[in-house]
Amino acid sequence: AELNLQEIHDLLITVAHEAGRMMMAATPSYLFSGTKKNSADLVTDTDQAVEKMVSTRLLTAHPDFKFIGEETYHPGQQLTEGPTFIVDPIDGTTNFVHAFPAFCISLGFAVNKSPVVGVIYNPFLDELYTGIKGKGSFVTRNGTKLRLPLKQEPEPLKDLSTCLIGAEWGSDRTGNNFAVKTKVFAKLAASRDDGGAMVHSIRAVGSAALNLVLVASGQQDVFWEGGCWAWDVCAGWCILVEAGGIMVGGNPGDWEATIEGRKYLAIRGAPNGQKEIVEEMWAVIGD
Ligand code: IPD
Repeated sequence: AELNLQEIHDLLITVAHEAGRMMMAATPSYLFSGTKKNSADLVTDTDQAVEKMVSTRLLTAHPDFKFIGEETYHPGQQLTEGPTFIVDPIDGTTNFVHAFPAFCISLGFAVNKSPVVGVIYNPFLDELYTGIKGKGSFVTRNGTKLRLPLKQEPEPLKDLSTCLIGAEWGSDRTGNNFAVKTKVFAKLAASRDDGGAMVHSIRAVGSAALNLVLVASGQQDVFWEGGCWAWDVCAGWCILVEAGGIMVGGNPGDWEATIEGRKYLAIRGAPNGQKEIVEEMWAVIGD
């Protein structure tokens, strides 16, 4: 049967609002939250309860579809070509436990390993971001629905020196991964030979999904991260592309990003300059 993406989108929105109520009713503790791989990789009872609710709701409605969720993922679990819900119950768990107002549920839907529906909801700010492949993307806040990007005629991208960059430390602070992040942050924060700054500034809002909707909105020009998972990016990727943005790999030369690729570079919609910004970022990341 033909997939009804609109119906899936509407279901994801209902589920997102329910998840938002669960997050806002919770009283997470930064002292007593659990950890996964290390002390910066947090998980709470709410992450698990939300994922359980979401998977039950989605698989009851669509028993033939697959489900990949952050809290039930196990190494070796493969993304297939079939219709798959790809879900992060709470993206920005560290923010969630500290009550820093940048966390969300990220609900993606992929077919043929490509994101075709995305719903991201920040319950703290009551901001809902949505996108359907070929139908555009939107943000709804205070009951008003706006098309993305927020500027109807986004400005051209000049060069990195005028960009606001989103970049994350992630939870892996060890070895080569940490060395690369440290180098990239330092290079972006530095001044150029002429005394000007390399970039306007760097932000680390603490949620890959929210980084992607900031780029989709045009509120950040670039997002770079080298340790994301499918559930961090699936929904935001769809929303970004529908807003005229592009997603490429984080490794120099990697123009074809994949849902399982882990390393990403997202650039906002612009009449020109996207490819040049990609090349400039790759030059910073590379070598
Ligand atoms: C994390 C956040 C964080 C990013 C990590 C993600 P989680 O997701 O998006 O900003 O740096 O790579 O894993 O653990 O809060 O769901």
